[in-house]
Amino acid sequence: MSRPPLQIAILISGRGSNMAAIARRCREGRINARVGAVISDRPGAAGLDTARALGIATHVVPWQGPAGRPAFEQALARILAAANPGIIVLAGFMRILSPQFVASRAGRILNIHPSLLPRYRGLHTHRRVLEAGDREHGASVHFVTAELDGGPIVVQSRIAVTAGDTEESLSARVQATEHIIYPRVIGWLADGRLQWRQDRPWLDGRPLDEPVLEDFREPLQS
Ligand code: GAR
Repeated sequence: MSRPPLQIAILISGRGSNMAAIARRCREGRINARVGAVISDRPGAAGLDTARALGIATHVVPWQGPAGRPAFEQALARILAAANPGIIVLAGFMRILSPQFVASRAGRILNIHPSLLPRYRGLHTHRRVLEAGDREHGASVHFVTAELDGGPIVVQSRIAVTAGDTEESLSARVQATEHIIYPRVIGWLADGRLQWRQDRPWLDGRPLDEPVLEDFREPLQS
């Protein structure tokens, strides 16, 4: 029973470390998927070089401000139509897609957000966690809906916030967990374990009512 590889398009705006983590696992055969396109809204995104080094076709659709969103999304849609991905993966993509763009691809866009959603939607999550004095923090992989950072969550990673943590140290520890949980979710999709049916995610044949929690409060080994 071999399934055809899941075709993936990844949207980035910056470093692309999540994109690279996913692409490497595909290349190693640990996920039955193939990254067919990496698309950036920023020509200078470092992740573009990483993608090219991994042999992935790259595209740039420059963001021209909110007024240019319709043209941006038209250009994006043309690239996506050619790449024909089964899933669109937002990986540090810092633009907000329109409700129409998202609705026409319901259940086919994933995002990773650096907080334990629904806490801290939006920007500067690490700073806000420190300011609030939270004891734990993490990342969430969720399906994208029209509500910003509000779609159904599939997996969350949880880390401990320790005395002396800074935005940088939190960001590094959260990202290390992102590189584990995002490929895992894509692997589930590729294997057909995770599906989108009746406007909601299903895992292993059951509606996913609660996110799967991955606890990284013990230090990561590597
Ligand atoms: C990641 O930590 C991701 O969670 C965050 O940007 C970083 C991108 O890193 N995404 C958001 O803040 C989305 N609102 P990367 O480019 O190295 O993957």
